[in-house]
Amino acid sequence: MATNVFDNILELPNSAIAARREALVGFEPRFVRVHANLKMLLDPDGLKAWSLKHHHVELPIVGHMADRHPLVILAGDAGTGKTISAEVLSDAIARELGKEGFFLRLSTRVRGEGLHGQMGNLVNDAFEKVKVEAGKKRLAFLLIDEADAIATSRSTLQMHQEEKAAVNTLIQKLDELRELRGRAVVFMSTNRMHLLDEAIVRRAAVVLQFERPSEEERVELFQKGLTGLKLTKKELHELAELTGPDQNDGLGHSFSDIRLRLIPEAVASCYPDHPLSFAALKLAAELTRPSPAIQ
Ligand SMILES: Nc1ncnc2c1ncn2[C@@H]1O[C@H](COP(=O)(O)OP(=O)(O)OP(=O)(O)O)[C@@H](O)[C@H]1O
Ligand SMILES: [Mg+2]
Repeated sequence: MATNVFDNILELPNSAIAARREALVGFEPRFVRVHANLKMLLDPDGLKAWSLKHHHVELPIVGHMADRHPLVILAGDAGTGKTISAEVLSDAIARELGKEGFFLRLSTRVRGEGLHGQMGNLVNDAFEKVKVEAGKKRLAFLLIDEADAIATSRSTLQMHQEEKAAVNTLIQKLDELRELRGRAVVFMSTNRMHLLDEAIVRRAAVVLQFERPSEEERVELFQKGLTGLKLTKKELHELAELTGPDQNDGLGHSFSDIRLRLIPEAVASCYPDHPLSFAALKLAAELTRPSPAIQ
């Protein structure tokens, strides 16, 4: 198996990931939505116990659940937290079920290298790895990041034969994954949901939509990142307003625009000779533009 198949392989539970969860804004409400579904997928015995407890029989739907595909699609604009949420969700669910796990991120690097014929191999290798790991009684999470690079609709006109074959392989592997019931979950992230193959979208147990932060979330984002700076409520709200859609032609800053561009820009204007100030943050907010929406 090629060793470059994965950008990273993480052991779960993972304290570095758990720490990143603390820094996320708006994660908990999103987590609640997908959480029960993941639990149903990864803990079939728990579902059976639930049915017996509350209905005194094993409802037929408990058996029907085995037909669901353990696939979660994370869709939304760039920098809205899809990749980081896949990691955090996997870590959280492994902790909750008290199991060890494995988080694999599939590299889509081959795309730019014109190696169309390798897509199928890549998918095969990734699922093979998942099977092996899940066989060791560990939970296996596979993230196919920027999945539109691989899972593009087969009806796309200029699609190479090899790429179509890779999508077919992917669908077949997702079907087979159901046999590992309770041990593996595949996440696919995309910021071009409309490009994903219909047969793949149909198989998703959950589609989680990611949005740019609301005004309240932007306040929290500044607050969390700048604790210790003693900004007033009014100042925080002013920063949130400056980075919102009203001040930016209808499209506000994304989570990563604020955390990884705007705030560092403000820091750069003060570092190393001056303390970070509200004025510097305000200026950075006025000068930086939100990243454009991906069509
Ligand atoms: N909910 C959040 N709260 C705080 N920071 C966030 C949140 N979501 C994302 N971020 C910040 O934005 C960065 C980018 O997030 P991430 O890589 O998960 O985005 P993405 O949706 O996968 O983007 P892309 O489509 O470009 O891959 C994170 O490293 C983090 O710093
Ligand atoms: Mg991403």
